[in-house]
Amino acid sequence: MDSAIPMTQPKTTDSSSARRDTLTITDNRTAKTYEVPITNDTIRANDLRKIRVDESDFGMMSYDPAFNNTASCISRITYIDGDKGILRYRGYPIEELAEKSTYLETAYLLVHCELPTESQLKEWQHHVTHHTFIHESIKKFLDGFHYDAHPMGMLISTIAALSTFYPDAKHIFDPESRKKQIYRLIGKMPTIAAFSYRHTLGMPYVYPDNDLSYPGNFLNMLFRTSETRYRPNPTLEKALDVLFILHADHEQNCSANTIRGVGSSHVDPFCASAAATAALYGPLHGGANEEALRMLMEIGSVQKVPEFIKRVKAGETRLMGFGHRIYKNYDPRARIIKRIAYEVFDLMGKNPLLEIALECERIALEDEYFVKRKLYPNVDFYTGLIYQSMGFPMTMFPVLFAIPRMSGWVAQWEEMLLDAEQKIARPRQIYLGHDTRSYVPMEQRS
Ligand code: CMC
Repeated sequence: MDSAIPMTQPKTTDSSSARRDTLTITDNRTAKTYEVPITNDTIRANDLRKIRVDESDFGMMSYDPAFNNTASCISRITYIDGDKGILRYRGYPIEELAEKSTYLETAYLLVHCELPTESQLKEWQHHVTHHTFIHESIKKFLDGFHYDAHPMGMLISTIAALSTFYPDAKHIFDPESRKKQIYRLIGKMPTIAAFSYRHTLGMPYVYPDNDLSYPGNFLNMLFRTSETRYRPNPTLEKALDVLFILHADHEQNCSANTIRGVGSSHVDPFCASAAATAALYGPLHGGANEEALRMLMEIGSVQKVPEFIKRVKAGETRLMGFGHRIYKNYDPRARIIKRIAYEVFDLMGKNPLLEIALECERIALEDEYFVKRKLYPNVDFYTGLIYQSMGFPMTMFPVLFAIPRMSGWVAQWEEMLLDAEQKIARPRQIYLGHDTRSYVPMEQRS
């Protein structure tokens, strides 16, 4: 966006109808008219500050709780058209990446803007793979968690703890340091996730096997028992890799906004991505996959779906895994995931909850409540069924979302840091609380 935008000007008279990229605003309190520049179909909120009743007036602000209609950044990473159900990373359609790419190649694309050449990919894979090991003290740290600690809690805390192991990560404006932290974050996510899982089972940790692929090694660290060499099942390895691609980034969602907001204070990327992971944990965000499966189990049978939908429509509960702030059409990721689900079920046997999920979808897609609100299955509706069939406990579902999202977070973080227009994130508020009042001593309070 052009940084030299002219200030909003009070306008006198101009009835010219020639097309200009400006917005004319009339303040009916003062009868003054202002002309505000439009760039990229956007006006700058700061331009509204010129709109004042008098000199003492702070100036007009826009009020946008939950950022429904506010662009907080200029980004070149991920494009979504929610009405058309389009998702692209750096211009590449998600469908093509899911079919032709690998997660690590996609992660490279997100971080480096372009698909890698063969040698660039080799080097990237080498660096990420050689940062999969974690310091032995982290094992002790993980041992301190209760046996039934939620693995997301362990993941969030351990990512934050990495900050204490790598104080060099504070040099956020050193490109070499940033590169190293990105290798570390993407490389160590599966290790921390798998160690957290093994901790909940009371099983010994399995060290990374650097000869395996990124998802293959993750499966090794999760499921290896007494075999000398773990060989991941190729169908499950591929399914996990595609699921990782689908979850890698999703533009300015709650956790991306968190890493940008927290990172804007110039804290190190371990602390910033721990905050993003915490944001992802919520049931309205990455925690929805766990909640969706709990919901299907609670419904219990296909016959009980209509009764459940009735409760949803009465506002008693939500149909988890449905609806999206941006998608007002079928989530393109959900379409691909439905296909993967059948590939995994062919191998592992059909998940008995599938019929309940399909019935929920069938009813919801025809029901006026959902149609009117444009509520479609999102990425989280079918993933839980796949993860469960692969042998993951429900508490691991949000963790499986967080692992690949790290590549999106670090891409968003770096883009924010290098954007000269960005500053520490600091929204305004509309204060409607008390005006000044004198302190009331305890004995005079009612
Ligand atoms: N079930 C029933 N009603 C719903 C649902 C749902 N899942 N989602 C939205 N609505 C209704 C909502 O009650 C509201 O109705 P009304 O206009 O009568 O008040 C209307 O649809 C708009 O909902 P909203 O909460 O204003 O929409 P939002 O854009 O703020 O929320 C959402 C988006 C994803 C948080 C929401 O759809 C939701 O809670 N879905 C269930 C949780 C879920 O699946 N989250 C995963 C999102 S995708 C993965 C990710 O990127 O994190």
